Amino acid sequence: MKPPFVIAVDGPAASGKGTIATRLGAAFGAPVLDTGLLYRAVGVLLQRRGGDLGDAAAAAAVARALTADMLTDPGFRTREAGEAASRVAVHPSVREALFEMQRAFARRPEGAVIDGRDIGTVIAPEAPAKLYVTARPEVRAERRWRQLAGQGEAVTYEEILADIRRRDARDSGRADAPMRPAADAALLDTSEMTIEQAADAARRIVEAARARWEQS
Ligand code: C5P
Repeated sequence: MKPPFVIAVDGPAASGKGTIATRLGAAFGAPVLDTGLLYRAVGVLLQRRGGDLGDAAAAAAVARALTADMLTDPGFRTREAGEAASRVAVHPSVREALFEMQRAFARRPEGAVIDGRDIGTVIAPEAPAKLYVTARPEVRAERRWRQLAGQGEAVTYEEILADIRRRDARDSGRADAPMRPAADAALLDTSEMTIEQAADAARRIVEAARARWEQS
């Protein structure tokens, strides 16, 4: 049987993949799952309980208890939450605990847009449409800095650039599920694009994949 029309959107922090995923969800009438939020929630909830981000068993217990209705907390969107997320994401037991929630989303008969780091490689390798969205670290740092400053966080561009480089290294260096493009992903470098141009380019890539999927 034909797999549901799942669009996997992977890429590093602040590459534009979140905005692109939201736009694709609207364009193709599909629900969107931001999987970064799952890791952010695990990191923040663990810290709020006084737990240690390096404690794999404690982090996995938080991950196992996580449900979709717990994801609306604005505290998961902060700079600190991004750092906590990437530290709990290195534990294989945490990734395993979050696997089924993501897989269930990928099985929805109406299709789905799922954004993250390992969607096209681990979570939904059968996805008919895969994008790997990237941009130069300096461009990503500038975007993230504007976003966080808009949320009222007191942080400099240089601090954000250092965060991004550290997170890229940690996400790429994971032994299991390292951040990398799937062999069949379309690469989209948004460094020189406005968000409108990037969303448009993504939509065209997915329309072509959709046409292939409809004929399959
Ligand atoms: O995308 P976002 O910045 O919200 O992700 C936060 C962190 O969560 C990433 O730096 C990464 O370490 C982790 N993550 C992951 N796998 C995913 C999504 C996020 O390891 N599918």
